[in-house]
This record gives sequence, C-alpha cells and structure tokens, in this order.
Amino acid sequence: MKKFEQTETERLILRRPRPEDAEAIFDRYANDPEVTRYLGWLRHTSVEDSRSFIAFSESEWERWAVGPLLVELKESGLLLGSTGFAFETLWRASTGYVFSKGAWGKGYATEAMRAVVEIGRTAGLTRLYALCHAGHSASAHVLEKCGFLREGLLRRHFEFPNLDDGAHDIFHYGFVYEKYR
Ligand SMILES: CC(C)(COP(=O)(O)OP(=O)(O)OC[C@H]1O[C@@H](n2cnc3c(N)ncnc32)[C@H](O)[C@@H]1OP(=O)(O)O)[C@@H](O)C(=O)NCCC(=O)NCCS
Repeated sequence: MKKFEQTETERLILRRPRPEDAEAIFDRYANDPEVTRYLGWLRHTSVEDSRSFIAFSESEWERWAVGPLLVELKESGLLLGSTGFAFETLWRASTGYVFSKGAWGKGYATEAMRAVVEIGRTAGLTRLYALCHAGHSASAHVLEKCGFLREGLLRRHFEFPNLDDGAHDIFHYGFVYEKYR
C-alpha cells in the first residue's frame, strides 16, 4: 500500500498533520463553539486536546495509506481546517470536514472534499461515506455537490458531543466509486 503524501487543488493544500500544527488547529477552529457545533468530536478546550488529535492521526497514518488531513491555503500556508479519512476496512472509509469560520462560504469545503474523493480513488476505496446532522443544510449541500448520495435518514441516531439536547436525526451520505456501481 503506497502512502499518500499531500495533494494540491487550485487554492488548497491537503497534507498530513504534524506535531507543530497543534496550536494552529486549536486557535483556528478546534476551540470554536460555533465551528464545532455539529461535529462528532468534542470541542478542544486546550492545546493538549489538539496534540491528542495529532497523536490519533499518527496512529491512523501508521495503519492506513492515508488518514486525517489538514487543509491550508496554497498562497499563504494559512491553516483553514481539516478533512481526511477514517478507514474501517481497506475498501471503506468515512470522511468529514471542518473549516474555520473566516473560511466559510468560499467553496473551500467543496474543493477539499472533491480532492478527498480523488485521494480515496487512488487509495483503492470502494466506498466513502459521511454522516451529517439533518439540520446542517450547508454540509449536506457540500456532500451532494461532491457526488455523495443521501442514502438514509437515521432518526434520533447520534448524540453530538457539543450539543446537549439528546440524540439527533442524521443523514447518511455515501459515495460508491464508479467501477463498483
Ligand atoms: C459546513 C462547512 C464545512 C461548509 O464549508 P464551506 O467552505 O462554507 O462550504 P462551500 O463554500 O464549499 O459550500 C457551501 C455550500 O452550501 C451552501 N449553503 C450555505 N449555507 C447554507 C444553508 N443554510 N442551507 C443550504 N445551503 C447552504 C452554500 O451556498 C454553498 O453552496 P453553493 O456553492 O452551491 O452556493 C463549514 O460551514 C464548516 O466547517 N462548518 C463547521 C464544521 C461542520 O459543521 N462540518 C460538517 C460536519 S457534517
């Protein structure tokens, strides 16, 4: 299995997180209550949480061809957010994304997710999937623009760690690579 290194899109670089990224991850998005509202992981409350994420990322990268990815602006190197893969088998992985508030509404999530779909193709995936809060229209729209199909509504399925009002409905989105359709 060949290790992925990094990829460039028109405006972005997607690359493996490094230990020295912890403070920027914390400051740029992982500590922001608004940004982390609909995420499946607990908002970071100290840089130590961001370091733990990098340690987790390292273990994923040791095991699989590609793991979590940071997204930087190509022209300045500014950290915009994160995306990447959580492999479950050699053929199936889940994905997701988070961008700092100042980076919203500029098409970055769509650009990054299209790149993620292509990296998954190179990595030999059959299926990539994503879960999304049923009320999160912007995220659902990003997935649909990138070719994901809404495969189901899971009712009262997930207790979002940064929301405190019980289990929420989620959409299940899947992307099956062309040769397996
Ligand atoms: C969701 C998120 C990733 C979107 O990032 P982004 O870079 O703004 O996304 P893009 O600009 O590529 O695309 C957003 C699309 O949703 C649309 N949109 C924005 N708000 C919307 C809303 N309330 N309802 C419907 N569509 C909406 C935009 O118009 C755009 O579509 P268009 O290009 O067809 O006009 C970003 O808001 C984010 O990081 N949020 C916090 C983390 C998060 O919730 N992650 C997803 C967890 S499932």
